[in-house]
Amino acid sequence: MKEIDWSKLSFGYMKTDYNVRCYYRDGKWGELELCSEETLNIHMAATCLHYGQEAFEGLKAYRGKDGKIRVFRPQANAERLQSTCRGILMPELSTEKFCEAVRMVVKANERFIPPYESGASLYIRPLLIGTGAQVGVHPASEYLFVIFVTPVGPYYKEGFNPIKVLIDRDHDRAAPLGTGHVKAGGNYAASLTSAEIGHEKGYPSVLYLDAKEKKHIDECGAANFFGIRDGVYITPKSHSVLPSITNMSLMTLAAEMGLKVEQRPVDYDELGTFDEAGSCGTAAVLSPIGSIYDPLTGHTFVYNDGKPGKWSEKLYHRLRAIQYAEEPDTYGWMVAL
Ligand code: PLP
Ligand code: COI
Repeated sequence: MKEIDWSKLSFGYMKTDYNVRCYYRDGKWGELELCSEETLNIHMAATCLHYGQEAFEGLKAYRGKDGKIRVFRPQANAERLQSTCRGILMPELSTEKFCEAVRMVVKANERFIPPYESGASLYIRPLLIGTGAQVGVHPASEYLFVIFVTPVGPYYKEGFNPIKVLIDRDHDRAAPLGTGHVKAGGNYAASLTSAEIGHEKGYPSVLYLDAKEKKHIDECGAANFFGIRDGVYITPKSHSVLPSITNMSLMTLAAEMGLKVEQRPVDYDELGTFDEAGSCGTAAVLSPIGSIYDPLTGHTFVYNDGKPGKWSEKLYHRLRAIQYAEEPDTYGWMVAL
């Protein structure tokens, strides 16, 4: 194998040795299979290709300070995948099978797990697709579950340096009663235009307002949004926001640090009141937001003079310390291989 420069990894695909697959046929899931093939051979009328029966997940494995390998909260991803399956009528995979598949694929690709010192990690990407042929708009009768892994570095080239965010009122990623609360591929297709516009204008991420009234804050690209004001951690509650496992964990850590936590509709007008703002997710980890530009008003909201705020720094370091086993795993989040 060509030497990997772990310090130069970005968030991208790298071929690894194995993926894990499991087929759903005749009304039941089969056995997990280890596979070294990168491609899938599927029917051209598969529902994932036409009607968007596609769900995915994202989680990470870390090589800890003690050299041991651990995965962050895989049960939570298993449960969210089950929720996505219910959302787009696909058969649910049990938490046990999901976690066993994660363990199997991480173990089989152990040599791709970045060293502790690099600060990089192994991204785990499960997907579940309808493979059965349909021409009418109906759920498939056959499905495929796959997990591949790839070593990754920071999602934003900024790393922990604050990002610039653009408000996009011209596109919605999810309808108010649509599928925004689940991790269905279609949500991401709907987000591509705004992400591209953002990138062209020099913004690594866009902020979505609620699709119905454009009054509340929804998602921040492929991550949740949070703001911190006067010792309160505030994050949107909305049917079109994906329940982020990172955000859920940060809320726990914020409470541990003595912050008050509020998960509720967040009004647009509050953007001007936060001391700190940030986005969070598996890929994004915790990325402080330096500023948010609103093209409608021409106003730029600036947070902490564009530098990471003290609470964001504390939360980031505490989360990373748990993930890399530098501090005790107080909440039992880490699952050792
Ligand atoms: N919101 C969206 C739209 C996402 O794609 C993600 C990534 O999974 C998140 C939020 C963050 O979720 P998590 O922290 O579980 O990765
Ligand atoms: C994640 O954070 O795991 C995501 O899925 C975000 C993005 C890469 C789609």
